[in-house]
Amino acid sequence: MLAYSGGLDTSVAIPWLRETKGLDVVSVTVDVGQPVDLERVRRKAQASGATASYVADARREFAEEFILPALQANALYEGTYPLSTALARPLIARHMVSVARHEGASFIAHGCTGKGNDQVRFDLATASLAPELGVLAPAREWKMTREDEIAYARERGIPVDATKSSPYSTDENLWGRSAECGILEDPSVEPPEEVYGWTRSPAEAPETPTYVTVEFDQGRPVALGGDRRPLHELIARLNEVAGANGVGRIDHLESRVVGIKSREVYECPAATVLLSAHQALEALVLPRDLLDFKRTVELRYGQLVYDGLWFAPLRLALDAFVRSSQERVTGEVTVKLFKGSARVAGRRSPYSLYDAGLATYSSGDRFRQEMAEGFIYVWGLPVRTWASLEPRAPATPARAREPLP
Ligand code: ARG
Repeated sequence: MLAYSGGLDTSVAIPWLRETKGLDVVSVTVDVGQPVDLERVRRKAQASGATASYVADARREFAEEFILPALQANALYEGTYPLSTALARPLIARHMVSVARHEGASFIAHGCTGKGNDQVRFDLATASLAPELGVLAPAREWKMTREDEIAYARERGIPVDATKSSPYSTDENLWGRSAECGILEDPSVEPPEEVYGWTRSPAEAPETPTYVTVEFDQGRPVALGGDRRPLHELIARLNEVAGANGVGRIDHLESRVVGIKSREVYECPAATVLLSAHQALEALVLPRDLLDFKRTVELRYGQLVYDGLWFAPLRLALDAFVRSSQERVTGEVTVKLFKGSARVAGRRSPYSLYDAGLATYSSGDRFRQEMAEGFIYVWGLPVRTWASLEPRAPATPARAREPLP
């Protein structure tokens, strides 16, 4: 059961698995929002020698079951990367496992190299869901260069898209696009404009801002500018609107699971807007201690997703915490998109903890300021006690304890 994108690596993997391992290969292609013609991919799998080929449109499932929990967890790896690729891998693996069981397959195979994170995610998702299945990763074994692969494909009559001479390796889905390789491998060089595929250069973005209002219901985005849509459609629309304003470009010097530092350029317009909007709404409706504690959960959650532990018990348990925290995350956030920036311009909620009568410095103030002094006295006792014991200067002998003021 081969996870098949239709690209060169996975197309070469089909005859390689047949010839080297003596296996029949069934391809599985999952649409997670990448620009893909599923029918063409299916035909190419067959032309490459697959005995059967499956395709699945999983955009809704991806949005509902993978993106949404990650959004509610404000998941950002190293505070920077919205985990677009990392979130799609367990979903693809889940599809593979279900087809593998249906077909009675004994191995899951994928096109990942031995240097990246995606192999970790496919292997561990498979281990979590179907520990009885073996995993094969031809690209970890075959030691072919890209040129070797092209020759290998040509010898076997596999169509090679020679127009695809881009030096960049990219991966795309609803939650974002990633690019690596080529000049990007020099982290001191600014990514050239040609790297980007989803976003307009901020310099060329419209001169007037675009405002988008995102409506949330219990932590779930349900409408954009009053227009209610299924989540996967809302994300796709937001990618266009925010991308047109140059929003969502990310240059990440990233720490891979396998210990390698890599330079990755992402475009995540919808994720950028939704993560900011969601955090802004949480700031309005959640109390301080819950926000604080949730930050530590979020950090760990993002690491688990990155590290391929989506189906691990810790991620599932953290998910239960996150879901419970979203009960009152209902309301509207307006975000201003302007030349590459996405800034929250306003927020409102029926569960707002913001109380104008407490916050105001104008008339209508209901806060009992005289109570603050007593509060601070009690709150500050520990520091006061500590400070009263401290020698004022070195070599001064300890003094008798004076009464606290
Ligand atoms: N470095 C990112 C991650 O680990 C993106 C990987 C992109 N994958 C790819 N096959 N091009 O999530």
